[in-house]
Amino acid sequence: MTGPTAPSGAAPSAVDRSALMHNYAEPAVTFVRGEGSTLYDTEGRAYLDFLSGLAVTSLGHAHPVVAEAVATQARTLSHVSNIFGNVVGPDVAVTLDRLVGGGSERAGGQVFFANSGAEANECALKLARRWAGPGRFRVVSTNDAFHGRTLAALAATGQFEKQAAFAPMPEGFDHVPYGDIKAMDGAVDPDRVAAVLIEPILGEAGVVVPSSDYLGALRQLCTERNVLLMVDEIQTGLGRTGRWFAFHHLGIEPDVVTMAKALGNGMPVGACWARAEVAAAFVPGDHGSTFGGQPLAMAAAQATLAVMEAEDVPAMAAAAGARLRDGLERLPGVDHVRGEGLLLAAVLVNDFAGPACAESLRGGLVINAPRPDVLRFAPSLLVSDADIDRAVQTLSPILARLSAAFGFRDGPDQETGPGTTSQS
Ligand SMILES: Cc1ncc(COP(=O)(O)O)c(C=O)c1O
Repeated sequence: MTGPTAPSGAAPSAVDRSALMHNYAEPAVTFVRGEGSTLYDTEGRAYLDFLSGLAVTSLGHAHPVVAEAVATQARTLSHVSNIFGNVVGPDVAVTLDRLVGGGSERAGGQVFFANSGAEANECALKLARRWAGPGRFRVVSTNDAFHGRTLAALAATGQFEKQAAFAPMPEGFDHVPYGDIKAMDGAVDPDRVAAVLIEPILGEAGVVVPSSDYLGALRQLCTERNVLLMVDEIQTGLGRTGRWFAFHHLGIEPDVVTMAKALGNGMPVGACWARAEVAAAFVPGDHGSTFGGQPLAMAAAQATLAVMEAEDVPAMAAAAGARLRDGLERLPGVDHVRGEGLLLAAVLVNDFAGPACAESLRGGLVINAPRPDVLRFAPSLLVSDADIDRAVQTLSPILARLSAAFGFRDGPDQETGPGTTSQS
């Protein structure tokens, strides 16, 4: 694979988008092909992809093993519905149960397959209500968290500007400040609350890492009150933070884990794992999905997980993450870097993340700005050292110029808040 060449500008899209709804901002670039960490636009220009379609293509674009598995499965059997069995989904579920357990032993849970992150969370939210029984249906989540765009996942999302136009939200969702265990303590009423839903690192809100004792304290609180601890690993899961799941850094055992994004390396797949006693709350007919767990998506997940295990991608993400962090920390205009593994944010000295993203794109580097002063990096977990160095080199003159133009922010850095270019 040849390295990216710097484009002179973002390619104008020749595509007629007039029949698409206008729920997304107009894209600056239209991509037609990808290979590893490189994307190519309609003009044939190459870009270094350090966003991975929002933390999805963790093995890079067009990974040959995944592509071959999907093509073979498409020629064999794509779909039968969940009225019937298939041989791929059950195998993926066993692998996921083992990965939730840390990689060697099965955790002893069960999996529901969905088609997206929001749907994985919908499953978790319905499962919590079913498990807790009538009357105890509330779910406590946190301000600034992102759990998806379907109505219940949106109600759990703690970004109220995303909810406003769609009021009223479904009943039963409470929010407390992220990282504040006292506030959780006050909100988790055991007579009314079924579950706590938590991102181990706030991804969409700018890669915010809580204190190292937060999730452990939450685990203890939930256990004492017989409330489910549901961890949303949709962005952090499957190696991205340097462990199979972010909660593995903390030595806790959640009751429910949701995942999606990286699971199919680009095929739309989501999953909700639950401890067996919790999963047992569902009986046939309680929940379902026409596409969920279908052979085609499962073949992508099976191949993705096989490559991830064979290459030990969590270890690769940890090593590559250290190199990227080191490079970003040295850049002009970067106040500090936060995150774990290859989910990193450069917090800038002022609000120039939007222009920095636009200039990076023109310079051939794809990143995004989840907040006005935050650049997010989520490259392929197989990213090469050379590509990491090239990304840092691309950013260096851009951030030098912008930090000189914008100067230093007057007030203190705010950890979270509304995003700029973020879509999830
Ligand atoms: C933590 C988290 N939860 C849920 C979602 C929703 O996933 P999807 O967009 O696949 O519905 C996202 C998407 O960014 C996410 O980051």
